[in-house]
Amino acid sequence: MGLNLGGKVVLITGAAMGIGRETALAFAKEGANLALLDIDEKELANTKAVVAKTGVKVSTVVADLSTDKRASQGVRNSLSAFGGDIDVLVNNVVSGAIRTFDELSDDDWSTTFNLNFMSYVRACRAVLPRMRMKGGAIINNASDLARQPEPLSIDYSVSKSAILALTKGLARAEAPKIRVNASSASRGASWQAGGGSSQRHRLPGVRSGEFCHLECLGCGRRQYSEHHLDQHHATIDHDGLAGHVISGS
Ligand SMILES: NC(=O)c1ccc[n+]([C@@H]2O[C@H](COP(=O)([O-])OP(=O)(O)OC[C@H]3O[C@@H](n4cnc5c(N)ncnc54)[C@H](O)[C@@H]3O)[C@@H](O)[C@H]2O)c1
Repeated sequence: MGLNLGGKVVLITGAAMGIGRETALAFAKEGANLALLDIDEKELANTKAVVAKTGVKVSTVVADLSTDKRASQGVRNSLSAFGGDIDVLVNNVVSGAIRTFDELSDDDWSTTFNLNFMSYVRACRAVLPRMRMKGGAIINNASDLARQPEPLSIDYSVSKSAILALTKGLARAEAPKIRVNASSASRGASWQAGGGSSQRHRLPGVRSGEFCHLECLGCGRRQYSEHHLDQHHATIDHDGLAGHVISGS
């Protein structure tokens, strides 16, 4: 896409598989150096092997991002390979199971929020001091389920709604130096090759590899895209875009 990302440092959480891995590869193809975090050591090493072929510098850290200490340490350690520098944070990590509301205990809700939402808060907190000095972009992966929840995995949907509020509030606080946006794909936007939670859980009616319809809710700019990742690119490529949800359906 010619985004001039050569030498930029992009940190991606949940980069071992699915959209995180494909995002890493796409940024690497644009020349960005990568700091990748995930709990899955083996798959993270596989991601590193794939993206390293592009010639960019890659730092990986294995960390459970559901706890404050490990998330903060993980971000710090992964960026130490770049002298603490960072230009783009992609909050992507997720975990979840298909459960009805009645099946969800308080602990289940806390577990979901600790990873799906609080890991985003903690990663933002860790990178903001540096970004406030030099500028940057934060991309929060949400979901269409944030605004149109389904009966199942309601904890997932609510955690994604919280991410939209976090995105808009943080965008207002940090603009124009730091652009904070959310990418809100539908579950049908799952990566064909990379798997993804929707494919693993086999939700009824879920398909993969569909085209996404991207629309900036702020300015109305539209584009069609084959890949969810282009939503990330849209948020970086789009001057002055902050606090918006780029949605795919
Ligand atoms: N797949 C889709 O169709 C779809 C649709 C809409 C939004 N999204 C969003 O895109 C993002 C990526 O989705 P995906 O389907 O690629 O997910 P995925 O399940 O394929 O990948 C999630 C990654 O997070 C890692 N992870 C899980 N628990 C962790 C922990 N405690 N600490 C550190 N890492 C951990 C996993 O190892 C994995 O590499 C998520 O935020 C998801 O909500 C996905």
